[in-house]
Amino acid sequence: MTDLTIRAREPSDAAAIAALMNLPGVRHGTLRVPFVTKSFVETWATGPTNTFLLAVRHDTIIGVTVLMQGRDRTAHTGSILLFVHDAHINTGVGTALLTEVLTLADTVHGLRRVSLTVNADNHGAIHLYRKFGFETEGILRGDVLRDGVFIDSITMARLRF
Ligand SMILES: CC(C)(COP(=O)(O)OP(=O)(O)OC[C@H]1O[C@@H](n2cnc3c(N)ncnc32)[C@H](O)[C@@H]1OP(=O)(O)O)[C@@H](O)C(=O)NCCC(=O)NCCS
Repeated sequence: MTDLTIRAREPSDAAAIAALMNLPGVRHGTLRVPFVTKSFVETWATGPTNTFLLAVRHDTIIGVTVLMQGRDRTAHTGSILLFVHDAHINTGVGTALLTEVLTLADTVHGLRRVSLTVNADNHGAIHLYRKFGFETEGILRGDVLRDGVFIDSITMARLRF
């Protein structure tokens, strides 16, 4: 995808990332709560073992992924977050971000296990994760309160032992 760039996050990106996290589709698919602020994003997921990648199209941030690496005896593991701008879903942005973040997980951090949690009715996301080798490990019943309803989520992992 020629008009898509993947780059690192800069401190000046906080407001644009907050705007992305406040979109209805992103909120529906993730655990994000309404009214995310710039100051929340400035400290969110900024730990020393976290890798934050952004997808940018025409100077606009349209996708985010975060790889959070474990520590000590779980240093070979990581978990990921992923979301794409409502107006840009199904255009390959998630594929581009996952490709990049899993390449880093495999070839830079040497991770053997990458996991994630996804709402059980998020069929597009589950389809994408399966394409990248994630397999279902379990169902978390009533795990998420979304729009006043408790829904199930699914834990998935991609192993490289
Ligand atoms: C889930 C998400 C990250 C995927 O990103 P994306 O940029 O839309 O993904 P891509 O365009 O690279 O690929 C989407 C794939 O899902 C498929 N898909 C879309 N809707 C689908 C559905 N309802 N059922 C099955 N597959 C579906 C597409 O056909 C495509 O598969 P293909 O490449 O084999 O044709 C994005 O839709 C998103 O951010 N949604 C809102 C937030 C969210 O749900 N985040 C995930 C939290 S775990």
